[in-house]
Amino acid sequence: MLLLNPGPVTLTERVRRSLLQPDLCHRESEFFDLQDEARARVLNVYRLDRAEWAAVLMTGSGTAAVESMIAALVPDGGKLLVVENGVYGERIAQIASQYRIAHEALNHDWLQAPDVKRVVARLEADRSFTHVAVIHHETTTGRLNDLRALGAACRERGVRLLVDGVSSFGAEAIGFDNGSIAAVAATANKCLHGVPGAAFVVVRREALAQAASRTFYLDLGRLARAQDQRNTPFTPSVHAYYALVEALREFEEEGGWPARHQRYALLAEQARAGLDARGIGSVLPPSESSVVLRSYRLPAHLSYTQLHDGLKAHGFVIYAGQGRLSAELFRISTMGDIHAADVERLLQVLTDLLR
Ligand SMILES: Cc1ncc(COP(=O)(O)O)c(C=O)c1O
Repeated sequence: MLLLNPGPVTLTERVRRSLLQPDLCHRESEFFDLQDEARARVLNVYRLDRAEWAAVLMTGSGTAAVESMIAALVPDGGKLLVVENGVYGERIAQIASQYRIAHEALNHDWLQAPDVKRVVARLEADRSFTHVAVIHHETTTGRLNDLRALGAACRERGVRLLVDGVSSFGAEAIGFDNGSIAAVAATANKCLHGVPGAAFVVVRREALAQAASRTFYLDLGRLARAQDQRNTPFTPSVHAYYALVEALREFEEEGGWPARHQRYALLAEQARAGLDARGIGSVLPPSESSVVLRSYRLPAHLSYTQLHDGLKAHGFVIYAGQGRLSAELFRISTMGDIHAADVERLLQVLTDLLR
């Protein structure tokens, strides 16, 4: 089965085999070597200086990393502006509500880009905002939100940017050097091609020094302190860490994030052009989309279930739209061990289904 959903991804044989390494106690030096390598390699994805940045690992899915970041980095006296244009932006506001973090959600239509002017207006009108949270790649629609413009607006006002990079880390440019990004949360099992169970926050050491978490298990500061001392507070998902390290070695050998970006861009364009030729339009223009996932309008005479089941019978798993968009669109991601020949076969199956 080929997974064209936005993670977990189709694994390479190399990463799959890495799961079969020796049983490992997480209190032994071999585990800490593995943890150290994972942390160093995560930072190296964007060539970050370890004196300035830390990669903090945790066991859990992408949401764990996002929750850990939000719960620790907005201080008690601070206030968070959540830029929402999809499900994952809404989730950050829900996390903030649950932890009673002072916040305001800046809602946008799910098909619209964040309006930087509105963000600036809110930051100007209420000087108590200390942080802005945004989703880099809003997987709800495939939209790539403009971190550069938001980052500049934040930097000029001394506001820190917290980024959900769960579905972009490793495949899209992230301007870590723009001065406003305090942290990016991400996961092993999307653009990095690992397995679910390992997630991480890449955080400025300066922000980490002031972190005060509201959660026990996902306490970013405690996790970082333990990991800096070659330790771990709890039992990590050792096998997910094996896979993450192997996936990161493979990632580096293949040319790092620029190569992955280029590979995804070719596959996404192949799928878009092929679907377009079959009368299925993309919801957003390529210039506004990530290379990771695209959303498409459902064909008039096929329901999502018919489309999904028809493709699944031929070995492809696609993904539905979320919330109110489920009636209108479906999504295709080309993350993972997916190649041009796979996309070609998908298009052939689609031709038959559309007859
Ligand atoms: C942008 C974004 N944020 C957060 C998540 C949540 O990740 P998880 O389901 O691994 O918790 C996802 C999942 O697709 C996502 O795409």
